[in-house]
Amino acid sequence: MGVPAFRLGFSVLLVFAFVLCDLGVCNGGITSRFVRDDDASSDMPLDSDVFRPPPGKNAPQQVHITQGDSEGKSVIISWVTPDKPGSNRVVYWAENSDTRNHAEGYFVSYKYFNYTSGYIHHCTINDLEYDTKYFYVIGFGSLSRRFWFTTPPKVGPDVPYTFGLIGDLGQTHHSNRTLTHYELNPTKGQTVLFVGDLSYADRYPFHDNTRWDSWGRFVERSTAYQPWIWTAGNHELDSAPEIGESEPFKPYLHRYRVPHNASDGSSPLWYSIKRASAYIIVLSSYSSFVKSSPQYKWLANELEKVNRDETPWLIVLMHTPMYSSYVHHYMEGESMRVVFEPWFVKYKVDVVFAGHVHAYERSERISNIEYNVVNGLCSPAYNIEAPVYITIGDGGNSEGLVSEMTEPQPKYSAYREASYGHGTLDIKNRTHAYFAWHRNQDEYAVEADSLWLHNREWISTKLPQSSEMTHLSSAAA
Ligand SMILES: *[C@@H]1O[C@H](CO)[C@@H](O)[C@H](O)[C@H]1NC(C)=O
Ligand SMILES: *[C@@H]1O[C@H](CO)[C@@H](O)[C@H](O)[C@H]1NC(C)=O
Ligand SMILES: *[C@@H]1O[C@H](CO)[C@@H](O)[C@H](O)[C@H]1NC(C)=O
Ligand SMILES: *[C@@H]1O[C@H](CO)[C@@H](O)[C@H](O)[C@H]1NC(C)=O
Ligand SMILES: [Fe+2]
Repeated sequence: MGVPAFRLGFSVLLVFAFVLCDLGVCNGGITSRFVRDDDASSDMPLDSDVFRPPPGKNAPQQVHITQGDSEGKSVIISWVTPDKPGSNRVVYWAENSDTRNHAEGYFVSYKYFNYTSGYIHHCTINDLEYDTKYFYVIGFGSLSRRFWFTTPPKVGPDVPYTFGLIGDLGQTHHSNRTLTHYELNPTKGQTVLFVGDLSYADRYPFHDNTRWDSWGRFVERSTAYQPWIWTAGNHELDSAPEIGESEPFKPYLHRYRVPHNASDGSSPLWYSIKRASAYIIVLSSYSSFVKSSPQYKWLANELEKVNRDETPWLIVLMHTPMYSSYVHHYMEGESMRVVFEPWFVKYKVDVVFAGHVHAYERSERISNIEYNVVNGLCSPAYNIEAPVYITIGDGGNSEGLVSEMTEPQPKYSAYREASYGHGTLDIKNRTHAYFAWHRNQDEYAVEADSLWLHNREWISTKLPQSSEMTHLSSAAA
């Protein structure tokens, strides 16, 4: 009879399916079983050591620097004086030089509900030498403070450089551990690529902006000495029409400046820089990106400009991930994925870093660009031209970790773990870069996940053609 034969066939299929699942064929990559210690993610109290203002009334505080031009010969130095404007001047000199240079900046301030900011100074210093240590001094006399930074080497295809990756940092004890682990990592990050959500001041009643100030003081121990490349996240919106505050990104845009003019950017929320052998494109998940929007037009033009002979590494930063298999924020990046993913594949972006989801995840090289609503190819496929997507939203803010994951782990997900940490991207030359993820529970040198990235432009053409893309539909389909 047909029926028992069918049943037998079905049971064999089932057994076969279980065996496959056991072998890990059903699921995607690795879901780490690492068990974290308890999840005390409240903000550090305002009287904590990390928030202490520098001694002296009106001394400059919250010092931070970022790249000031497109090539790395310019630095924007920012700081806050709380009570009076004070000086706008930066005095600076190369380590081995007696020549004292100075530059004049300007200050801005803003009101937010019943909060009035201090005097937020921004000063751009130009025409620096490459690969040189500079000292700089801000403030007068006994209130002056001295810091230093090192400029990047001249842009070029085989220039090694090491970036740190931090996202969704906030100002909890976990945040402090993440920053400490970044600082003490034996792989020394030279510049931080920050993927958005800085202070989380907006979680306080009336978005208490004193928490923007405390955050600035907390991270100064890193941001004053190496550039942080800023990306805006949803916690930078600070949009609160109910208290009369409806200008998006108001505190963020007053406090943080970026070199968007240098990349013909129409807004400080999206821009690009070249640094060493990398071309870094920063996008805004919370600005329009639909066809013909300013951001869309800018990116279309920008990707055309990238010269992989000069900067082999093409890196994109955004806040909301396009691929994430966590339940929280699931598919929030889908609309941007639909618009921008075909370009990322066409222009062979090497890696896309995002935050927003408070956990770590790394994808396979996949794309979902074949799908056109009616053709049935609606699952991500292995695609050798596609970027790796890395979610690094695990800095440690007051919202805590997200641990609920979609099950089974989709095949596009190579590794996922709900722990706090940071990443490093160690570019060796035009073909090789090493990415490592470090969790806060481990010793500083321990890598919880790592990957050699092979440059898409310089290696993919030499790899076998990936003409037929294998669709990663579930085992049953
Ligand atoms: C702002 O208003 C809130 C609510 O009335 C109050 O708790 C807070 O102290 C005020 N802050 C300032 C700086 O006046
Ligand atoms: C933050 O971390 C630094 C460096 O490890 C440490 O010196 C400081 O005491 C920590 N502060 C808090 C409030 O945990
Ligand atoms: C950028 O360009 C605009 C328009 O030309 C100008 O108003 C603004 O001051 C420039 N910003 C910087 C940081 O140079
Ligand atoms: C690029 O770096 C990788 C990893 O360090 C190394 O194996 C390779 O030989 C380097 N390529 C060249 C051309 O030096
Ligand atoms: Fe976010």
